[in-house]
Amino acid sequence: MGCLFFVNSKKVRIFDTTLRDGEQAPGIDLTMEQKVRIAKQLADLGVDVIEAGFPAASEGEFEATKKILDEVGDKVEVIGLSRAVKQDIDRTIDTGIASIHVFIATSDIHLKYKLKMTKEQVLERIYESVRYAKDHGLIVEYSPEDATRTDEEFLLKAVKTAIEAGADRVNIPDTVGVMHPFKFYDLISKVVKVADGKIISVHCHNDFGLATANSIAGVMAGARQVHVTVNGIGERAGNASLEEVVMALKKLLGYEVGVKTYKLYETSRLVSELTGVPVPYFKAIVGENAFGHESGIHVHGVIENPLTYEPISPEEVGNFRRIALGKHSGIHGLKKLLSDQGIELTDDELREVLKEIKALAETGHKVTVDDAKAIAIKVSSKKIN
Ligand code: KIV
Ligand code: ZN
Repeated sequence: MGCLFFVNSKKVRIFDTTLRDGEQAPGIDLTMEQKVRIAKQLADLGVDVIEAGFPAASEGEFEATKKILDEVGDKVEVIGLSRAVKQDIDRTIDTGIASIHVFIATSDIHLKYKLKMTKEQVLERIYESVRYAKDHGLIVEYSPEDATRTDEEFLLKAVKTAIEAGADRVNIPDTVGVMHPFKFYDLISKVVKVADGKIISVHCHNDFGLATANSIAGVMAGARQVHVTVNGIGERAGNASLEEVVMALKKLLGYEVGVKTYKLYETSRLVSELTGVPVPYFKAIVGENAFGHESGIHVHGVIENPLTYEPISPEEVGNFRRIALGKHSGIHGLKKLLSDQGIELTDDELREVLKEIKALAETGHKVTVDDAKAIAIKVSSKKIN
């Protein structure tokens, strides 16, 4: 019954882990103030869950989790990561948090080399830790770390064990990003079947550049929560990026997400500024070139109707359309660009300006609007508004 409800529901929860898995990336160390600023932005953005940190990992993480809870805990679910050990769970509880994300690995390689535990011991630990957290009144999300390299039968046993112990949600991490969409769809379909109506979540890493595609496949298979980070920051090649997952779910598949999409660009820039990690120029949705056009044919199309070469409008995600000038530019784009600057030229004058712009671009110069204006003034000797 519950199962049918979730799988048929079109609502997908966005679980943001920028402040936990994102911050785990080498070179990213946020101060408490910076973490709080990002948490406030995420709350405004409208994510469903903010993973504030790993309270047992350090004093700073503990204090930051408490502060984030204080600042945004009334607006959004705040959760803390914890190993499946009592000391970690106790430390997480001490922050005053209501939700905990308990994890223990399930793959053979992690059992043998990291945990040095048997499968039976891991199942016992899952049951005990989830039960312990539930007995302390917490909302519990359980993750079988390295789920996608876990023997399938054992993974399903781990999921069932967590649910029997009272887990409210089970998250399936593709810890080293080895899934592809068809395989992940198949796996998540099987997990959903044994989940007894509980929410299944997905957490995809981007080692093969497939984190967004795999997250979407997970949702299509019945997952109703996705772990993401702003700009896709995270360990190695990063995590599924919030902006890509949100827009793909909403625009390509018609799922409901609570995120205010017009705040995506400003959120991306804030995280980039505070982490010091630049947003790639070609990044989907929030990159500088995501709505950039130079070629004459494209610019002409976009001027007539932006949908000719834009699948969504830049305003919808808070980004900007950028018309560039260069050797691929055409008359229509130049005319519009100069007209926006208050310069109206004859067709002959425009052709002359375009010729000069192309010649300048051929030298490797990045032609700016100011360059175009200067050339236009020279060519026409017109007065500019
Ligand atoms: O990638 C991963 O497995 C994780 C877990 C802690 C959920 O980040
Ligand atoms: Zn992760």
